[in-house]
Amino acid sequence: MTALLLIKNIGMLATARGCAARAGAEQGDISLTQGCWITAENGIITKIGQGEPPALEGAQVIDAKNRLVTAGLVDAHTHLVFGGWREHELALKLHGVPYLDILAQGGGILSTVHSTRAATEEELCEKTAKLLNEMLSLGTTTCEAKSGYGLDLENECKQLRVVQKLQNTQPVELVPTFMAAHAVPPEYQENREGYIRLIIDEMIPYVSEHKLAKYCDIFCETGVFSAKESKKILLAAKEHGLIPKIHADEIDPIGGSVLAGEIGAVSAEHLIVCPPEGIASMAKGGTIACLLPATSFYLGATFAPAREMVTANVPVAVASDFNPGSTPNLSLQLAMNIACLRYRLTPEEVLTAATLNAAAAIGCADKVGTVEVGKQADLLIWDAPNLNFIFYRYGSNLIDTVIKKGQIVKRR
Ligand code: NIG
Ligand code: FE
Repeated sequence: MTALLLIKNIGMLATARGCAARAGAEQGDISLTQGCWITAENGIITKIGQGEPPALEGAQVIDAKNRLVTAGLVDAHTHLVFGGWREHELALKLHGVPYLDILAQGGGILSTVHSTRAATEEELCEKTAKLLNEMLSLGTTTCEAKSGYGLDLENECKQLRVVQKLQNTQPVELVPTFMAAHAVPPEYQENREGYIRLIIDEMIPYVSEHKLAKYCDIFCETGVFSAKESKKILLAAKEHGLIPKIHADEIDPIGGSVLAGEIGAVSAEHLIVCPPEGIASMAKGGTIACLLPATSFYLGATFAPAREMVTANVPVAVASDFNPGSTPNLSLQLAMNIACLRYRLTPEEVLTAATLNAAAAIGCADKVGTVEVGKQADLLIWDAPNLNFIFYRYGSNLIDTVIKKGQIVKRR
């Protein structure tokens, strides 16, 4: 049976356009249409028009009541699956202990590795399903999810299988990323070369063969993985069909963003202290800058040079970076608000960053990220009259209705 949907009385439809990341002046060149309607058939947008809506027999009709409609938000960077939490680190942070010092003392990421290894697949599934439900209420309809708290074959695959299972049991569409190169695990502290060999010789081939991930990410940072090690691992991943991403220049600029452009990584993440040569390399290599403003906020760090990136024609995406350490916030809305206020990107630029450019960073811009005929009907009705309003009235959940593939999946 054909499932028909009509959304009428849309006060403002705000959307980027196209199936590829937008950079430079195009980043903020979105369409803002007033007084329109949208129809969808079997989860795909069929028509968008202004004026009187068509009479669609048998269609489910939603009255948007003159409010804002956008595409569903796409969260292109999360560390979604993990055991435990790390609220004890808040006190350390407040006493000024740096993030990398906590990690060097065996805490931080390694403390989450301990609790993730201890959790069963079922426990992780149950916990992650709840988190996804919360994300959906906040407007996230597509989400990337990294491994990286297992740090051995069995536990990395356990995390990735959780993502695979949840793909079919709840509405948020998931894109898996393999990130065993997130830290060196305790059992390899004296033999980091051995861990790198394990990743390259065993984990990457296994993950690729069993189609457990689409991307491979690495934490290129002082005391974690050097740019040289990152290159070796990401090139091995690429040979096995996993597309490279890099956590680069989060705390120290040790060459991650330059490497990202050189190896044609789809995206470089964080980029808080990205140097001009990193921006130039990403512009040349066609790498998307996936910025994580809530992490800067939570770590009390500076903010990535977003405007310089837009000016240099690097497409900018904005994501939550949800994880139990550097930013335990899963609201992409909040990350968008911080991006606007602290990067001083315009509402139009940030909308593109959290929809179309984010979708491009995780390889699904052909089907999500914009409201256009032929794309999936992943739509949000906001409790807001226009786009500016959602950046102005920050701190509340302004989502009224979430539609995924033409179905209402959340309604206030
Ligand atoms: O993107 N920086 C590395 N990874 C995560 C943090 C992970 C954690 O602290 O558990 C990030 O911020
Ligand atoms: Fe991250």
